Amino acid sequence: MRILVTGGAGYIGSHTCLELLNQGHEVVVVDNLCNASEESLNRVKELTGKDLTFYKADLLDADAMNEVFDKEKVDAVIHFAGLKAVGESVAKPLEYYHNNITGTLILCDAMRKHGVKKIIFSSSATVYGDPAFIPITEDCPKGKITNPYGQTKSMLEQVLTDLHVADPEWNVILLRYFNPVGAHESGRIGEDPTGIPNNLTPYITQVAVGKLKEVNVFGNDYDTPDGTGVRDYIHVMDLASGHVKALKKFADKPDVYIYNLGTGRGYSVLEMIQAFSKAVGHDIPYVIRPRRAGDIATCYADATKAEKELGWVAERGIDEMCQDAWRWQSNNPNGYRS
Ligand code: NAD
Ligand code: UD1
Repeated sequence: MRILVTGGAGYIGSHTCLELLNQGHEVVVVDNLCNASEESLNRVKELTGKDLTFYKADLLDADAMNEVFDKEKVDAVIHFAGLKAVGESVAKPLEYYHNNITGTLILCDAMRKHGVKKIIFSSSATVYGDPAFIPITEDCPKGKITNPYGQTKSMLEQVLTDLHVADPEWNVILLRYFNPVGAHESGRIGEDPTGIPNNLTPYITQVAVGKLKEVNVFGNDYDTPDGTGVRDYIHVMDLASGHVKALKKFADKPDVYIYNLGTGRGYSVLEMIQAFSKAVGHDIPYVIRPRRAGDIATCYADATKAEKELGWVAERGIDEMCQDAWRWQSNNPNGYRS
């Protein structure tokens, strides 16, 4: 298939572009590079030996989006583009709602005008809030969301569902990611956060590489085996292959399909620090700090629906996640900025 990948220069997008090309698909990327570098796409081309088409364009620019669809005959869209920093979204709600919601509305309008009605959307386990039960199945009710970023995910799930209700030809796949980590095994592409990372694993690797002093462990008094938060970390290449497998669903009757993409296994913050220490070859220093506002104790997936319906399972374990994240970070201490 010929796939338009919005946000394709970003962390998950670049790994998915690589997997799409390796599986024989054609790729067109739209990204405004507000949180990415074109260098990621150069490296995807280098790693695959294949070409892709890149448009530096903003989803908020309706003319630019229509022009892309005029020029490129695409079969489906994988929609990653969006702002994703939870804390920043609390400080800048208007920017987050505008970019993520309006950007998606403009994208879908351009798709509709051009008869493209197949979309895979990057959602998040954040829509479950503090989950009603664990492991979380797709039937778990959506929960109370504590920040505008998470709200945009939940609202956009609804927008896309309503689009299918209005026009049943729309085929919508909502993928709810758990905690993506790691990098391509080559160490050539990976996660490149600007400033001090908010998420745990880029923070750990920056401590390991000496850019930051110690890991702040947010709370050790949760109701978990060692008191620290438990999450379902999933290797970004497994996540990428989940998207490619999900494309097959477009051959089925158009509907709104929802899948959790996780491993089904939770690790605590201390287990992650330990696993990274092993991959890095020395102890990673940490200090226990108070809980972070909005955090929950435990979150991990039941991913059997994706296995049954997409034939997808996460294959890479914790050691591979840490080794690959470390290879990327140690080979590229400043990310794509040389
Ligand atoms: P990322 O920031 O690396 O990638 C997002 C990309 O979208 C960036 O390249 C950015 O430049 C681009 N972008 C943002 N706004 C745009 C706009 N208006 N027009 C064009 N391009 C725009 O983030 P990521 O980690 O790769 O996440 C990809 C998607 O997955 C996001 O929607 C994110 O919310 C979602 N998600 C991420 C995680 C995670 O932990 N990384 C978890 C759950 C869901
Ligand atoms: C966060 C977001 C979520 C988003 C996801 C992926 C919140 C409340 N949730 O999930 O909406 O989809 O990122 O981008 O922000 N931790 C530390 N020290 C750190 C960083 C994190 O101890 O420096 C702990 C956290 O308390 C948590 C775990 O590590 O228990 C994972 O945190 P993080 O990587 O930020 O992901 P989530 O909070 O699960």
